[in-house]
Amino acid sequence: MTRDEIVSACLETTLYSWSATGKVDPLAIARAEGVYLWDVDGKRYLDWNSGLMSVNIGHGHPKVLAAVTEQMKTLAFAYPGAATEIRARVGRRLAELVPGNLNTFFFTLGGAEANENAIRAARLYSGRTKILSRYRSYHGSTNLTLQATGDNRRWYNEPGAPGFVRVMDPWPYDYSFGADEDEITKNHLRYLEETIRAEGPHTIAAMIIETVTGTNGILMPPRGWLKGLRALLDKYGILLICDEVMCGWGRTGKLFAFEHGGIVPDILTMAKGLTSSYLPLGAMAVSDPIAAHFRDNVFWGGLTYNAHPTLLACALAAIDVLIGEGMVDNATRMEPIMRAHMERLRLKHSSVRRSRCFGLFGILELQDKAGQPIAHYPDNHPVMAKLNRFLIDHGLVTLVRWDGVMCNPPLCITEAQIDDAFAILDAGLAITDAHP
Ligand SMILES: Cc1ncc(COP(=O)(O)O)c(C=O)c1O
Repeated sequence: MTRDEIVSACLETTLYSWSATGKVDPLAIARAEGVYLWDVDGKRYLDWNSGLMSVNIGHGHPKVLAAVTEQMKTLAFAYPGAATEIRARVGRRLAELVPGNLNTFFFTLGGAEANENAIRAARLYSGRTKILSRYRSYHGSTNLTLQATGDNRRWYNEPGAPGFVRVMDPWPYDYSFGADEDEITKNHLRYLEETIRAEGPHTIAAMIIETVTGTNGILMPPRGWLKGLRALLDKYGILLICDEVMCGWGRTGKLFAFEHGGIVPDILTMAKGLTSSYLPLGAMAVSDPIAAHFRDNVFWGGLTYNAHPTLLACALAAIDVLIGEGMVDNATRMEPIMRAHMERLRLKHSSVRRSRCFGLFGILELQDKAGQPIAHYPDNHPVMAKLNRFLIDHGLVTLVRWDGVMCNPPLCITEAQIDDAFAILDAGLAITDAHP
């Protein structure tokens, strides 16, 4: 099929997520390898967003292909009530890798289902119902997880399930980085405690957070916040769920982002990087006390594809590649390189307002001549669309929205490839520099 045939058939016969199909202008992607994508006409693009912040090991790794093929030859599927060798191996490997007392796993098909089951587990375990979450967050597109989600994708799915209480983010107002972080942490925890007391601590099962907020702006919590939050929730017997669907599996330079904060949550959720998105798999990890509860009490959740052997084989291989090929360390090594580029662009371009980067989890935020964000969250602006078009035309694919340009390449990226990406960004920023 030609590019036009592919695009028109896709647009005529399928819906696109979070979009009006008439306004979608998709790239016709034919193949991918390492950090690159190729369209059907053979043009190459650097994948500056790892698919959807998810292809952590890069595209097309032969070891994953071999492991999946091998598993499909012997046992492609087993009903979820079965014990299989691959389930045993993945369970053991995850228990060994995931820090703290998070040693028991429930497998799903993606991040939303992992969070659904985390909320379910917290409610069943605690006997309480309410869930706290933050406005600046995304936790998935199912009914329940959209109610935990704070961002505007929730608005169009309301009214949803009851029992959710959302709070403001620790970063106040305009996410004023450089402000006194200890003060911010102290004030926010005070506000949170007041909220908990007003809601009735005995009614709150858990608080769910993205340990490092992803699509809502790559926000690392202020200093001491995770430790303070952990202590506050413990005080009221409220469980902590860390959603690491996006920030887990090496993205921030540690295997899991909660390790930066010196805490361990009661429940951890993951997806994306678990298989590097070669196949759809998510998981919820629960602490030993929660696991012990479900030894005697029914876990009222299930899926036909729970602990699907082929998906698990994919995860095991992707994890082996991620760790075996040193990609988590590479994220740490590349962080200062990426930061230096970002700072260089900030000094050179009047439209660069600020940037953040933790491991290979990064964003550039752009401003107008008055020093205001080009688009205020959650709005978009045509000049950002123009910049995005420039980046695509010059071979860089990423997520551009609100005032942000996402910088989240696969964790196997080299310094030279990062240089290439920033050369394209450098040229493209002339467009936003010219914006009034
Ligand atoms: C932090 C976070 N949680 C949950 C999800 C939902 O995952 P999925 O799309 O696999 O259902 C996402 C997806 O982007 C995410 O970023």
